Amino acid sequence: MYQEPFSVEVKDVEDARIQAPNDAIVRVTTAAICGSDLHMYEGRTGAEPGIVFGHENMGIVEEVGSGVTTVKKGDRVVMPFNVACGFCKNCLAGRTGFCLTVNKGFAGGAYGYVSMGPYMGGQAEYLRVPYADFNCLQLPMGEEHEDDFALLADIFPTGYHAAEMAQVSPGESVCVFGAGPVGLMAAYSSILRGAAQVFVVDRQPDRLRLAERIGAVPIDFGQGDPVEQIKDRTGGEGTDKGIDAVGYQATVREGDEQPAVVLNTLIECVRPTGMLGVVGLYVPADPGGPSESAKHGELLFKMGRFFEKGLRMGTGQANVKAYNRQLRDMIVAGRATPSFLVSHRLPLSEAPDAYQHFDQRDDGWTKVLLKPAMA
Ligand SMILES: NC(=O)c1ccc[n+]([C@@H]2O[C@H](COP(=O)([O-])OP(=O)(O)OC[C@H]3O[C@@H](n4cnc5c(N)ncnc54)[C@H](O)[C@@H]3O)[C@@H](O)[C@H]2O)c1
Ligand SMILES: [Zn+2]
Ligand SMILES: [Zn+2]
Repeated sequence: MYQEPFSVEVKDVEDARIQAPNDAIVRVTTAAICGSDLHMYEGRTGAEPGIVFGHENMGIVEEVGSGVTTVKKGDRVVMPFNVACGFCKNCLAGRTGFCLTVNKGFAGGAYGYVSMGPYMGGQAEYLRVPYADFNCLQLPMGEEHEDDFALLADIFPTGYHAAEMAQVSPGESVCVFGAGPVGLMAAYSSILRGAAQVFVVDRQPDRLRLAERIGAVPIDFGQGDPVEQIKDRTGGEGTDKGIDAVGYQATVREGDEQPAVVLNTLIECVRPTGMLGVVGLYVPADPGGPSESAKHGELLFKMGRFFEKGLRMGTGQANVKAYNRQLRDMIVAGRATPSFLVSHRLPLSEAPDAYQHFDQRDDGWTKVLLKPAMA
């Protein structure tokens, strides 16, 4: 539970219970900590104390409401981080990240996230899942692939969504900014889609090593201008496509934030008529923004260069449900193993410590999975 900036605590809360006939209660077996949680953790959103974090959840169904038909007690399931209804205009079009009914006055809902509706997070023993038939993805029974499947709640589909928005196609070159879990999944997805050349830009050596391990070219922006480094390796042309997996808390040096730096660098790295997939988070209000305009979510974006180069860009929350079933089947078939980036498996009691390490991007803390049943 969020206490104040840079502090979470493990507390007893009321048990999740069925509130509507379409609900299920899931006993959480794995809940991951996400870079998105860090924006709230650092006090850089409107999140209020008392919110239970956790939008990357999987587990075993414990109980279902009377209106649930396909999900039953004992099923092993993973939930998209998006809470969605399945029947609104956007859900029907596959845009479940922008559901129009689950979060009044807003397009999109999620578990345990500020502004995303009244849904408790799953970094807990139990989770209430609304519209359970729609929001539970069935998994093979047993314990196999637990860590791979856990990543189907968010980062694997989100990385894939970034590649989809950029329409990464066989033989293309792509630059991915951010070698955090989302950036690594975007690079991995680009490779799965047949990209010939994938660059991953960051300055965390441990994360860049993981990028290299999956066959991407690591670019350390601490060692020199990333635009030059990428142009040097693409015959001066730049890449066909670009992905932002950093968002508004992008830094140029340790502690020196420039909210538009990744967007503006991408505009220079990607060749004319290229496409950008932006999954790194941008917010309409940032209490800790480095300038008055940044506090209101207004960034100095190089629109002129963007236009001049005829670039296109897709943004927003990933529609996890558009990809989670297909990516699950790639895991089952042995064609994808996203868990290569998981660094820690810990009991809930160690969450406060884990948040601190992950937030500091301490060496080797790439992705933390919380296991509530662990002692
Ligand atoms: N759109 C979605 O649906 C969605 C889903 C999940 C996460 N996200 C967002 O994606 C972003 C990344 O998430 P994560 O879990 O990987 O977070 P993370 O914080 O672990 O990773 C961010 C990485 O960016 C690097 N970085 C910082 N400034 C940089 C710069 N100028 N150039 C290159 N790299 C830079 C950091 O060193 C870090 O490794 C976050 O903003 C998160 O909120 C979006
Ligand atoms: Zn997440
Ligand atoms: Zn909907």
